[in-house]
Amino acid sequence: MDQPNKSANQPKIQIDHLYFSFGDTLKENLIIEDFSLDVYDQEFLSVVGPSGCGKSTLLNIIAGLLPATRGRVLLDGAEPEGPGPDRTMVFQDDAVFPWYTVRQNVEYGPRAAGMPRAEVEATATRYLQMVGLYDDRDKYPRQLSGGMRKRVDIARAMAMQPQVLLMDEPFAALDVMTKERLQEEFMTLWNAARTTVVFVTHDLEEALYLSERVVVMSRNPGRVERVMDVPLEQPRHVDVKTSAVFQEMRRELAEVLHTMHGGLEAR
Ligand SMILES: Nc1ncnc2c1ncn2[C@@H]1O[C@H](COP(=O)(O)OP(=O)(O)O)[C@@H](O)[C@H]1O
Ligand SMILES: [Mg+2]
Repeated sequence: MDQPNKSANQPKIQIDHLYFSFGDTLKENLIIEDFSLDVYDQEFLSVVGPSGCGKSTLLNIIAGLLPATRGRVLLDGAEPEGPGPDRTMVFQDDAVFPWYTVRQNVEYGPRAAGMPRAEVEATATRYLQMVGLYDDRDKYPRQLSGGMRKRVDIARAMAMQPQVLLMDEPFAALDVMTKERLQEEFMTLWNAARTTVVFVTHDLEEALYLSERVVVMSRNPGRVERVMDVPLEQPRHVDVKTSAVFQEMRRELAEVLHTMHGGLEAR
């Protein structure tokens, strides 16, 4: 698989001196302060940070669901107007329609976006095969396990063929075994599709295993505390998690978080 040449890539997303406040003034209830970061085209970037530091808020601003209070977020050098199919979200709780079959769920977005019928079907088939659910295409969500529903959700988001995939702790609600399997599958999927991903998680191993860079956010207000490169070749085998390099990076990340605020939630 070709590795992207980062220096030749324009940033896909430019977060430029972003501030965000839920209050009436910038100072009141300031959640994100002076946050600047470029996300490269085809990059897999993770954001970790303590609970309440503004990770979901940041994703919502990138998605266009919340307005920046000050500063800008650019997509391919331009400021998008509100949300669009070029940026799709995957949340912790899957966003599948219970009254639609697996296939109908995956077809919904492309169909709504006006894609021709034959192309909708071909796209859905491709992503259902990629997540290993083609044989289950006529089932309803209630007939599926949590892990399978999450696969439907990922296929749903990817079938939109977004420029950017925004994922907010997508695997956090899954049991450990299912979570590890999905991480591995998603790693394969990402290496095939190379969509730009911004992935929020509080699981440091997950962040390191999947990403090319990990951003640590501080809390009160949310700022870029540290950006760490993950110089491990893609695609990665799950065994990489036990390597000395990996464990050292994990230790370093944990230390940054611990020094900041006394560690992460649930860790
Ligand atoms: N609608 C809202 N109004 C006011 N404050 C909010 C709202 N939503 C979230 N917050 C606050 O913003 C901060 C960041 O929240 P969030 O982005 O969800 O953090 P994270 O995803 O990192 O846990 C938290 O302190 C939260 O309480
Ligand atoms: Mg959150």
